[in-house]
Amino acid sequence: MKFQQANEFFNGKYQTTTTRKKTTKSVVLIPFTLLLIMVLLTLMKNTNESPMLSSISNMNITKTETNTNTKTCDIFSGNWIPYLEEPYYNNETCNLITDQQNCLKFGRDDKEYLHWRWKPNECDLPLFNATQFLKLVRGKKIAFVGDSVGRNHMQSLLCLLSQVSQYEDISHKYTSDVIYFRRYFFADYNFTLGNLWSPYFVRSIDADPNGHSYDSIMKLYVDEVDEAWSSKVENFDIIIISAGHWFFRPLLYYEKGQLVGCNKCGMENVTELGHYYGYKMAFRTAFRTLTNLENYKGVTFLRTFSPSHFENGDWNKGGNCVRTKPFDKEEMKLDGYIKETYLTQVNEFNVAQEEGSKKGLKFFMINTTEIMLWRPDGHPNNYGHSKEQNVTFNDCVHWCLPGPVDTWNEFLLYMLNVESHTSSKLESVF
Ligand SMILES: *[C@@H]1O[C@H](CO)[C@@H](O)[C@H](O)[C@H]1NC(C)=O
Ligand SMILES: *[C@@H]1O[C@H](CO)[C@@H](O)[C@H](O)[C@H]1NC(C)=O
Ligand SMILES: *[C@@H]1O[C@H](CO)[C@@H](O)[C@H](O)[C@H]1NC(C)=O
Ligand SMILES: *[C@@H]1O[C@H](CO)[C@@H](O)[C@H](O)[C@H]1NC(C)=O
Ligand SMILES: *[C@@H]1O[C@H](CO)[C@@H](O)[C@H](O)[C@H]1NC(C)=O
Ligand SMILES: *[C@@H]1O[C@H](CO)[C@@H](O)[C@H](O)[C@H]1NC(C)=O
Ligand SMILES: *[C@@H]1O[C@H](CO)[C@@H](O)[C@H](O)[C@H]1NC(C)=O
Repeated sequence: MKFQQANEFFNGKYQTTTTRKKTTKSVVLIPFTLLLIMVLLTLMKNTNESPMLSSISNMNITKTETNTNTKTCDIFSGNWIPYLEEPYYNNETCNLITDQQNCLKFGRDDKEYLHWRWKPNECDLPLFNATQFLKLVRGKKIAFVGDSVGRNHMQSLLCLLSQVSQYEDISHKYTSDVIYFRRYFFADYNFTLGNLWSPYFVRSIDADPNGHSYDSIMKLYVDEVDEAWSSKVENFDIIIISAGHWFFRPLLYYEKGQLVGCNKCGMENVTELGHYYGYKMAFRTAFRTLTNLENYKGVTFLRTFSPSHFENGDWNKGGNCVRTKPFDKEEMKLDGYIKETYLTQVNEFNVAQEEGSKKGLKFFMINTTEIMLWRPDGHPNNYGHSKEQNVTFNDCVHWCLPGPVDTWNEFLLYMLNVESHTSSKLESVF
């Protein structure tokens, strides 16, 4: 099938796993060419329990670590190193982990993936301190804008924060679509955490006569922002924006209402522009929206593209992710379509940062693409559901909770902390 050529994003430069020579030293990942929709979220329920987790009170975070290194340390260059302590939370102490990411619940018994920490070369990344985080964001509102991997990140943050403070699910006050648009309120800190579902940031509609499916074609109006998020984002002080795997499906691109090209549409009379084009334009439109909205005064974090790790076949042909430890740096380099996708978004980010600075708006990058590329062991694979359920593919896209995705919140806290100490411009925000 035209839509399922694994080599397509490799520009012929790489071979698929099935054809590569046994002697090849590096590992070849198979691009996740089509969308994986994880239907939500039976477990995202409200809770009043917020048990303390002993590992939090044990943690060794010192003022020196936080303060001396903040200004100069490049936290995104480093290594995953072994870590013996237990994770911040587990499937018993956080009861809002969705089944799809609840690897412990569904019997994943290799536990090594829980015992690595990110170690920047130049400093230590402090452990996540939920109290410190909540104090920093007191009276603020944070939104995750994007798709289900962004929601995955939000759920990690909820689990981390729920260990020290109670929250209330207030989604229903803001939307009738409480499946896709979540909001939680931490009364003790007057802090709101939520997500604005928008996997493309721009207006999209289904274009397949047979309706929506994993690989159905969609129309993408790449210069028209999706109001699902743009109409709400001015209420937020901090947003974390991200996008990824939805752009790999067949797409028809519209600009000024006119069809200008497509991704994998297979129509002879329509120019094939690849997924990079849609990805670039969507970020451009999203960032322009943020820099032009009159009342948006927030701080924007881009969490960079999160790679998937399908091996041994395409996602819908038995591809899986069974590794139990991180890649060696030599084994896996940032390369091929992952690097290109990453760079596409970074180019747009750089423009946004410059444009934003003229208006006093801050844009930061949570630069995790390569870091997560080294964590093929962090995905649910087939541990996102019970054995009895007939799920036809493995999840090598989202991340187990707890798991390496919790590190994204260590980065977020670190960066918020730095900004609150160093930036006078942010006084209105912090
Ligand atoms: C914390 O650090 C101190 C000094 O570096 C060390 O003696 C102690 O064992 C550490 N505690 C934990 C829980 O790691
Ligand atoms: C948590 O996971 C364990 C297995 O690791 C399982 O026995 C237990 O039932 C799970 N608890 C919940 C609340 O999911
Ligand atoms: C976490 O942060 C709070 C508030 O800043 C601080 O009082 C506490 O000592 C920190 N906990 C650890 C273990 O460092
Ligand atoms: C809570 O925070 C909001 C802003 O998010 C602010 O308008 C409101 O006054 C705060 N409420 C209290 C009781 O501090
Ligand atoms: C492309 O060709 C198809 C038939 O193959 C036709 O239905 C469609 O309207 C054409 N699109 C354009 C933009 O010309
Ligand atoms: C992001 O991280 C990569 C390595 O993972 C590095 O090459 C790049 O310079 C970093 N970019 C920024 C803006 O920090
Ligand atoms: C799973 O598939 C089998 C055979 O296709 C079917 O008999 C069974 O009812 C399905 N189970 C569920 C939970 O859908």
